[in-house]
Amino acid sequence: MSVRILQFGTTGQVATELVRQAPRHAVDLTALSRAEADFIDPQACAARVAEHRPDLVVIAAAFTAVDQAESERELAFRINAETPGAIAHAAQAVGAAVVSFSTDYVFAGDKGAPYVEDDATDPLSAYGASKLAGEAAVLAACDRALILRTSWVVSAHGRNFVKTMLRLAGGDQPLKVVDDQFGRPTAAADLASFVLANAARLAEAPAGDPVFGVHHFANAGEVSWKGFAEAVFADALGPAAPPVGAIRTAERPAPAQRPLRGTLDTGKLERTFGVTLRPWRTALSDILAELKVSA
Ligand SMILES: NC(=O)c1ccc[n+]([C@@H]2O[C@H](COP(=O)([O-])OP(=O)(O)OC[C@H]3O[C@@H](n4cnc5c(N)ncnc54)[C@H](OP(=O)(O)O)[C@@H]3O)[C@@H](O)[C@H]2O)c1
Repeated sequence: MSVRILQFGTTGQVATELVRQAPRHAVDLTALSRAEADFIDPQACAARVAEHRPDLVVIAAAFTAVDQAESERELAFRINAETPGAIAHAAQAVGAAVVSFSTDYVFAGDKGAPYVEDDATDPLSAYGASKLAGEAAVLAACDRALILRTSWVVSAHGRNFVKTMLRLAGGDQPLKVVDDQFGRPTAAADLASFVLANAARLAEAPAGDPVFGVHHFANAGEVSWKGFAEAVFADALGPAAPPVGAIRTAERPAPAQRPLRGTLDTGKLERTFGVTLRPWRTALSDILAELKVSA
């Protein structure tokens, strides 16, 4: 029997992949656009859940403009915390499970090792704080909620680092990329296929099942933004790859502070769900092939 999924968000990286891959899975997915469910209005979004009465709710919409969140803190908290909480409350009322996404930016990045789920959170930015508040709101409202903390999401569509680097590669300015921030790039396609492959399990699992709670999801391997840029160019442009200069985070001030090493340890998710997350380089090759820019 197919799992009835109600998805919030249609245009984002993860939302796009969920919609695209859904036909390959035993799911019946309805995705609501911003026009159909604007996160500015928590109660209107909750009402969509009550109307649809799905088996599983996937929250793929979010305020993801990290620097902008510093000056629009209230809006970021509404969209990333209050509305997800209201949606989760409505899901609980109709007996639906919930999947929501969070970020490595809930951590300060000074642990000196990859973060596990129980490590102390200490967001450095309004965005990170709003996502952390969203985790708490969803978990408090629904006892069958999975929070997938992820990092450095990339795909062939939307706005992301891979596409930005490919655009800059053609320019006449020398490239300088931050070399003291480390993390794990993650393909939106991998996140989406994980959620869809586990939809039935999540829809059926009782409260207290280990599939619920916070889990970390990221492609395998740690890299700096500079290393990531070099990999993009090596794969996409081969011998024509431009040189990549290094710049320190402190030399490039931005409104929001980022963790220097928010790297996520994904062992808990891999054990609980019986999956092995593939290397980010393999995932990157697939994205570049889709963009048809492999060297
Ligand atoms: N991107 C990353 O590197 C990254 C890293 C860690 C965690 N995450 C988390 O992963 C999840 C998915 O991220 P993503 O990269 O797929 O996001 P994204 O590509 O930036 O897309 C954000 C989505 O949210 C929608 N949205 C924004 N404001 C809205 C509102 N007021 N009402 C309804 N929809 C609204 C956008 O719709 P419009 O097109 O209408 O604006 C868009 O569909 C998010 O929870 C994010 O916090 C992302």
